[in-house]
Amino acid sequence: MLTRLAISGYRSLRDVRIVLGPLNVVTGANGSGKSSLYRALKLLADIAQGRIIQSLAAEGGLQSTLWAGPESFSRAMKTGRQSVQGTVRKSPVSLKLGFGGTDYGYAIDLGLPLPDSTSKFSSDPAIKSENLWTGEMMGRSNVFATRSGPGVRIRDDSGAWRLAYEHLSTFDSMMTHCSDPHDAVELLRLREQMRDWRFYDHLRTDRDAPARKPQVGTYTPVLAGDGADFGAAVQTIREIGASDEMDEAVADAFPGARIEVTSQGGMFELEMTQHGLLRPLKASELSDGTLRYLLLVAALLSPRPPALMVLNEPETSLHPDLLAPLARLIAQAAKRSQIVVVSHAAALVSALDAEPDSRQIFLEKRLGETVVLDGVPPSWTWPTR
Ligand SMILES: Nc1ncnc2c1ncn2[C@@H]1O[C@H](COP(=O)(O)OP(=O)(O)O)[C@@H](O)[C@H]1O
Ligand SMILES: [Mg+2]
Repeated sequence: MLTRLAISGYRSLRDVRIVLGPLNVVTGANGSGKSSLYRALKLLADIAQGRIIQSLAAEGGLQSTLWAGPESFSRAMKTGRQSVQGTVRKSPVSLKLGFGGTDYGYAIDLGLPLPDSTSKFSSDPAIKSENLWTGEMMGRSNVFATRSGPGVRIRDDSGAWRLAYEHLSTFDSMMTHCSDPHDAVELLRLREQMRDWRFYDHLRTDRDAPARKPQVGTYTPVLAGDGADFGAAVQTIREIGASDEMDEAVADAFPGARIEVTSQGGMFELEMTQHGLLRPLKASELSDGTLRYLLLVAALLSPRPPALMVLNEPETSLHPDLLAPLARLIAQAAKRSQIVVVSHAAALVSALDAEPDSRQIFLEKRLGETVVLDGVPPSWTWPTR
């Protein structure tokens, strides 16, 4: 489980540190930084997939994702006696992401490449440092893999450091390139854990959504991010998963209703039987809100629960009556996976707040910068370059 998260220099998250528990609800006004926090978590997961540089490029490149304000605010700027202005930079341009957990911690520092007049990739982000340690906080004795520029050193069982890699590219992470099962098994283990983190952001429910169409049915313990294997995921829960829990979650939101999957020539299609209707409705006929709720049921009751599941604004297009059942469903899932929910819906936030073990993370924007209200930020040290 992740117990703390630290982000520095990413969009409005100039310097944010957060304590995480089993069930976390990130909320705040529009523009407070909720989506940025979601994307920062996604970027961390992208490292383990070997995609961090591409993901940053897809967001417009490092320059546009970097915090656009001054390196720090003076007291006069904070109290409004002086307007916000640029200060002379003391430290290099840097985007840092890190987490600590009950087993491992990791931090990455990205910056600009060294000037090279022969290369056209002069604005491509470069990985400057990476560190992997055991436990929550990086200390002097618990780091067992450290990268500085192109060099990676790994500590062996006897505590001795060994240069494992000398020429790692600026765009490759030690997570994907140095996780040798023989002498860097911790790197491998953490990478596999991070690859298993699951993200759901706006499951599609429009008219042409893949979830509305019949699909070839194969065992599907994990619902795809676009819901394309919805029928198969529901049937997998039915046959080898929490079938009763699924029925309860559906009936909780739609009293008397039930979902079944029909199969014709191997093509799966979802049907929903509802009170007052003479025939079941197919996925293609369901309302956006109903379909989204059912997709969330399939995602959250996965027979292969991930270590971490992150949901971005799951309330989108849900009828207000569905928010309390959704909160109960999320709380159920939090017994199996650590959960982070980013939400703008007050009713969902307060329903989740009532659940035991839930934490509210309330974001607010001050002087363009995201700050976390209430609570003392966890202590955190960034590794040096
Ligand atoms: N590079 C940047 N530096 C500073 N602020 C930024 C940068 N990019 C975007 N922002 C600001 O960050 C804020 C947070 O956006 P977002 O995370 O989408 O908020 P929310 O999801 O809470 O509505 C926006 O107000 C946006 O103007
Ligand atoms: Mg948002």
